[in-house]
Amino acid sequence: MIIKISVAGLQPGMCLVNPGLQQQDHPEICLRDLQVEDAAQIQELRDRHFTDVFIDTDKGPYFRERPEEKVRMERMFSQVSQENPTAVASAPPFDAVAAVLPRADAQYTQLVQYCRTFLEQIKLAGAIDLESSESFVQDVIAREGPSGHAMYLLSKLRSYDEYTYTHTLNVSLLATLFGKALGLSQDNLMVLGLGGLFHDIGKMLVPEKILKKPGSLTAKEMEEMRRHPEYGARLLRERGDVAAPVLRVVLEHHERHDGKGYPRGVGNGQLAHASQLMAIVDCFDALTSDRFYARAVHQHKAVCIIYNLRGSSFSPPMVDRFIRFVGIYPVGSIVVFRNGMKAIVIEQNERSLLHPKVRVILDNRNRYCPPRDVDLAEVRHTDPNFAITECLSSRDCRIHIDAYMKAPG
Ligand SMILES: [Fe+2]
Repeated sequence: MIIKISVAGLQPGMCLVNPGLQQQDHPEICLRDLQVEDAAQIQELRDRHFTDVFIDTDKGPYFRERPEEKVRMERMFSQVSQENPTAVASAPPFDAVAAVLPRADAQYTQLVQYCRTFLEQIKLAGAIDLESSESFVQDVIAREGPSGHAMYLLSKLRSYDEYTYTHTLNVSLLATLFGKALGLSQDNLMVLGLGGLFHDIGKMLVPEKILKKPGSLTAKEMEEMRRHPEYGARLLRERGDVAAPVLRVVLEHHERHDGKGYPRGVGNGQLAHASQLMAIVDCFDALTSDRFYARAVHQHKAVCIIYNLRGSSFSPPMVDRFIRFVGIYPVGSIVVFRNGMKAIVIEQNERSLLHPKVRVILDNRNRYCPPRDVDLAEVRHTDPNFAITECLSSRDCRIHIDAYMKAPG
């Protein structure tokens, strides 16, 4: 498990991990991999004005010395998991998504192409095609059933090397799907869809050498990068016909719950709900995508990172709703059990997100076995072998989950 702790709580032996967040969004967090060897290293972090770090609790003494803390963390997760089960619809099951996957493949490629043209036009001519953007979002909103989810799952299963375009599409898609799960009105869904599509258009005005720099940015480069919400809002304002709530999402998508975001540093109470939602969706999709400066993390890890930023970067009720929507172990994740068996998460459990329904595909010796479906909520008290110890991405363990998308007969 990776958790955020304060630098004051660091001890030699602990393992710092870089969760893949961007330094310009979290200047107070030390974002690097480091095994802490002595007190001098901790002092160095203090001297550089870092107040927080992410650590991997599986690699150091943290939970060994604080077993009560582990229980507390798990309890917090299960609180999110069990509160208000009917307020947010969770993502559809794996088999329903799988049934529409072949069609979704071609549709996703088409939509990426749309985003490429849309962003290139802004870059070359500063022109925003509002009409076609609205009909693009209308099309996403009108999709019934699991086709939107299928496209999103696909984007995480395949390797796409055009992050700028796929991220734009994914944020618009995921924000709209999340908004639908919350039961929002058509007007609000349009704000989310357009807000997602437009959120980073200001980056088209940031020099490419800064955007695609693989290493850390200089203070000046960071300052320029942090201007992109204002650049984007200005482009939209100049058009004169973009709805104010959409403009606000673009301007506020890097503002944070604790007021430590940018460009204005306004916090809770001053931020639109749509902006709070967009901030989480933007972060989740960025973390789970391969970018110029960081490799994708799997969806469960991204959920944990977002959970750790609950109350600081992100609005707690919005984080809770988001986790209810995607799950603690999102559909399509690979989970490893105590005895080594591996399974694909195929459906969330309304009663407890910590115990999803799974399809077991590898036995305890890592050999493929006839797939069988297990509801972890049903076996949690009777079979200790089904305790989840780890979550992996299908890419990391080279499992082609497409092959398991049909329910076992
Ligand atoms: Fe952004």
